[in-house]
Amino acid sequence: MKIDILTLFPEAFSPLKTSILSRAEETGILEFNIVNIRDFSKDKHKKCDDYPFGGGAGMLMTVQPLFDAISSVYQEKEKTKIIFPAPVGSVFSAEKAEELSKNEHLIFVCGHYEGVDERIFELFPIEQISIGDYVLTGGELPAMVMIDCISRFVDGVIAKESLENESFSNGLLEYPQYTRPQEFMGLSVPHVLVSGNHAEVDKWKMEQSLQRTKERRADLIRNKKQ
Ligand code: ADE
Repeated sequence: MKIDILTLFPEAFSPLKTSILSRAEETGILEFNIVNIRDFSKDKHKKCDDYPFGGGAGMLMTVQPLFDAISSVYQEKEKTKIIFPAPVGSVFSAEKAEELSKNEHLIFVCGHYEGVDERIFELFPIEQISIGDYVLTGGELPAMVMIDCISRFVDGVIAKESLENESFSNGLLEYPQYTRPQEFMGLSVPHVLVSGNHAEVDKWKMEQSLQRTKERRADLIRNKKQ
C-alpha cells in the first residue's frame, strides 16, 4: 500500500521511522511519501494561509497549494482514497481502519490553523474523518493515528493472530494479560491461566472481556451488531 502524506509539518511524521511501520516499509509492504504542501505555493513568500472571508477566528489554509499538492500525487479515482482528518468528519474506528486497509493508495491531507478553504472538497473526492470528539491543533496527529491503525490491517504488517483477539475485534474490550514472573510483590497470575486447561482459559478470557466491557464501555454492548 502506498500512503502519501501532505502536510505543512513533515517533521511530525518521524514516528513512521520507528518500529513496526518502519519495518513494513523496509520490507516493501508499505510505502510512505511525505509531501510538503508549502513547496506547491505560488505565493512569492510560499504563504499557505490567509484570513477567512466573512471574518472569524484565525487563518485558513489556501486552496491553491492544496490543490497542486493533491494533484501531484492523485492517480486513478478507483484506486486512490483521499482522507482529510477533521473534527467535522465521521468517527474513525477499527472497522473503518480495516475497510481503508483494502485500498492500494491512500492520500492523507493534513489541515492546520483554523481549517481549509472549503472548495478543496468540491475539487477532489475527499472523505473527512475525525478521531474523536475533541479538537487538536492540526491534522498531523490524527493522520498519524489513522495511518498506524490502518497499517496494522495490511497483510504482513503484523501477525494475523494479533488482530483476532484484540479490543474491538469482536465488539468487546480485550481481557487482562500476564507474563513471567508468576509471582510479583505478592501478586499472583490468575490460577486458571497456568492450569493448562484450554477450555477453562478461553471461558475465563471471555468472562473477563465481557466484565471489562460492561464496566468501562457499556455502549459497545448496547451497540453490538448481531
Ligand atoms: N483535527 C483537529 N481535531 C481533529 C480530530 N478530532 N480528528 C481529526 N482531525 C482533527
